[in-house]
Order: sequence, then C-alpha cells, then structure tokens
Amino acid sequence: MAGISDLPFRSLNRRFGCEFAFVEMINARSLGYRGRKTQQMLSCAEKDRPLGIQLLAGENKWLARALDIVEEYDFDLLDFNAACPARKVIRRGEGAGLLKEPRKLYSLLKLMVNASSRPVSVKLRTGWDEHSLNCADAARYAEDAGVSAVFIHGRTKEQGYGGSVDYGAIAGVKRAVSVPVIASGDVLSPESAVKMFRETGCDGILVARGALGNPWIFRRIYRRLSGGREEKWPSTDEICSVMKEHFDACVDFYGEKNGVVIFRKFFAWYTKGMRHVRALREKACHVRSREEMYLLIAGILAPENER
Ligand SMILES: Cc1cc2nc3c(=O)[nH]c(=O)nc-3n(C[C@H](O)[C@H](O)[C@H](O)COP(=O)(O)O)c2cc1C
Repeated sequence: MAGISDLPFRSLNRRFGCEFAFVEMINARSLGYRGRKTQQMLSCAEKDRPLGIQLLAGENKWLARALDIVEEYDFDLLDFNAACPARKVIRRGEGAGLLKEPRKLYSLLKLMVNASSRPVSVKLRTGWDEHSLNCADAARYAEDAGVSAVFIHGRTKEQGYGGSVDYGAIAGVKRAVSVPVIASGDVLSPESAVKMFRETGCDGILVARGALGNPWIFRRIYRRLSGGREEKWPSTDEICSVMKEHFDACVDFYGEKNGVVIFRKFFAWYTKGMRHVRALREKACHVRSREEMYLLIAGILAPENER
C-alpha cells in the first residue's frame, strides 16, 4: 500500500505472520532520479523476506530505465501496477488506465519479463467500469507476456475502494489463466478470507486495509484457515504495546519529526472502535514529539478511559 507499507509496517506485520510483502509502489520515473525518499522506500531488512517491488509506468523508456536500477537490488518479485485509480496516475496513462489499453499493457509486461532476472507479476482491477469488465482478457494478455502470477483487486477503477467486491470476476480470472491468482478486496477478517478462497478458487489472498492498525489479522486468518482455535481479540494492553513498538520503529527509521507525523494516522487506526478515546484521537493529529505520542498511548490505558 502506497504511503503505508514502509519497513516499520512490514517488519511488524511479518512478526504476526505476513508471509509476503511489497515495498511501497514506486513510479518508474522517480526511481530513475534516485532521490532520498525513493531510497528510503527501497530499504529492507534481513527478515523482511520474501519481498516484492511494484512499479508504476506507462512508457517503455522509463520502465526499462527503472528495471536496470531494480536489478541492483535483490527483490523476490517484480509487480507491475495496472490497478491504481488515482486521477493523476490515470491522466499519465498509467495504473488502471492501462486496462483500457491491453496491447500497451502487454508490451510493458513483455519488456519487464524480458529485462528482469526475477519473476514478474501484474496487479489488475476487474475493469474500468461495470460496462467493461475485461480482467479475464487482461490476465490472458499478461500470461502471454510471461507473468508468473496475477494479483486482482475485485473492483473496477470507477469503484475505487468502495462498493462490493466482484467475486465472480475474480473467479473468471482464475479460470482464464494457469498462473497463480492472488485475490484482493475486503479481506478484512478470517471470515472474509475464507469467503474469498471459497467464492473465487484463488491461490492466495492479499490483505490490505484489514492490516491497518491490525497486524493480528494475519494470525487470525492463518488460525482459521488451518482449522485451529479462534484467536482471541488482543487486549487494550497488547494493542498499546504493539502501537508503541510500531511507533518506536517509525521514529528510528524516519527520525523523530517525520516519524511522529507518519505515525499519527496509525494512532487513529489502532484505536478504531475503542471507547472513550475521541479526545486522544483528536490530540494525535497534532502531536509533534516522541514524548507526546508516548503520553497519548499511555492515555489509552488511563483509568478514565477504562469505563
Ligand atoms: C492506502 C492504500 C494504498 C494502496 N496502495 C496500493 C499500491 O500502491 N499498489 C497496489 O497494487 N494496490 C494498492 N492499494 C490497493 C490494495 O492493495 C488492495 O488491492 C485494495 O485496497 C483492496 O483490498 P482491501 O479492500 O482489502 O483494502 C492500496 C490501498 C490503500 C487503501
């Protein structure tokens, strides 16, 4: 997830059972400039494996240059994004915009497969809108180009991140190709993970928003899939302890000033659904120092919030 899946986030989720992760999506053009932010996005740790990188591109020239640079790193999988619905991305003919141009998508994927020493995959959506559900065709094109797996978010570009997931369209992709299909969309609980496998016949699932402030989701899903006893919900104590661990990792990685700002949104996600924390959540939007964030996290456990 762009803006989310940084090293601190991935490291925490790995500890809870996340088996495969991606660094944040990188625009092929910015990779060429080798800026500080991009370098930070590319950093990983020994235990942060297996790890994929996802590229966003609309032109062969930029993609080829980016792939040269990617070869200097040791990623386990190279994914191509044909799913991002952001307006500025579509305007450049990138992301989900490529669903309207399957030949161009094919040529970009072919270039990527030929240039990379690592397996290549593609991330698709079900189509541009409900009148053009072409993901099965796009997946076939991708397979012909040589991809080793297809990731599919079961919504159209027009749906963005709302509306219901089209399990039938994902099942259609699974029938259309013989490479593994990894399904995405509203995998928010063990129940929805089971549903995704059952309704689509997919080979794997992607957890996205379900992991925001909720690394426990990985353990809960594994337990359910392996027929084990249901994992209990974490106590408020445990949530606070994980929050602190995540926050410390952010500050270590980005420095205090940026780490605190980056963690603000996570404070809101970790405390979602908790009672009596509204004031703390509001304060979290303005926190500037490590000490202030510690106080807010400790405040969750204060007696007046335990009512
Ligand atoms: C904040 C955010 C950032 C995302 N960034 C990316 C991205 O960079 N690349 C990508 O392929 N999908 C991205 N996604 C989409 C997710 O991978 C996933 O396919 C989508 O959110 C549907 O799954 P969910 O309903 O379980 O969240 C992003 C989603 C969110 C919410």
